Amino acid sequence: MKKLIAGNWKMNGDSASNAELLAGIVAGLPGLDACDVLVCPPSVYVASAVTALAGQPVVYVASAVTALAGQSVAVGGQDVSVQVKGAYTGEVSADMLRDVGATYAIVGHSERRQYHGETDALVGEKAQAALAHGITPVVCIGETLAQREAGETNAVVKRQLAAVIHAVGHCVSELVLAYEPVWAIGTGQTATPEQAQAVHAVIRAQIAAATEHPERVRILYGGSMNAANATQLLAQPDIDGGLIGGASLKVADFLTIIRAAQG
Ligand code: 13P
Repeated sequence: MKKLIAGNWKMNGDSASNAELLAGIVAGLPGLDACDVLVCPPSVYVASAVTALAGQPVVYVASAVTALAGQSVAVGGQDVSVQVKGAYTGEVSADMLRDVGATYAIVGHSERRQYHGETDALVGEKAQAALAHGITPVVCIGETLAQREAGETNAVVKRQLAAVIHAVGHCVSELVLAYEPVWAIGTGQTATPEQAQAVHAVIRAQIAAATEHPERVRILYGGSMNAANATQLLAQPDIDGGLIGGASLKVADFLTIIRAAQG
């Protein structure tokens, strides 16, 4: 299975900087088609990112034609509503994401859990809503520093994942998961490859108990993954890609991580 390198832009960027970032990524992609690439801009920029990526050949003649022939960049949202439509001010539905050309949505990011009170159950429902409407959820799970120090890492991750497995039923093999230890997000304090692999193995085992095709589920690592540490992390047997925050906003760093995922 191809690795997946995903950029979570969080609440960063504007029209001009997004265009520059996307153009830089596409221009650097030719030859790097051994992994899948995804960018997740803020929701207001999802449509323009899809358009910019689809329109690349006009702007970047030779390199972009090659890029589009061998490699394309998928676009995703950073969240999705559990609701289909209606009076839910501020929400964005999976249908809307799909309508503008997105194919993925991050679900249950720790920043959503922390700042927006998203519970394990809600995250499971969001994953289910995404799948039901043709959007692949990238479901984030991970422990806080206090939980790790209390020896609760595996229990927390298993609890968070159990809620998702419960909600999506027989669709478990269609999930993408991201193990993001909260203490590693935006801190520069990356989990060591061994720490990450240990949790990824726990996640894989739990997936294996829920689906006949655990190998189809990509388990990404996220949390201060960068150009310097990506190779070692991505070499771990159960790390199937990365969900990258800060480093996904820098063309050179993001391309270096994509290069590291070529295997
Ligand atoms: P950083 O790569 O900035 O640590 O962010 C990781 C993350 O939260 C990706 O979703």
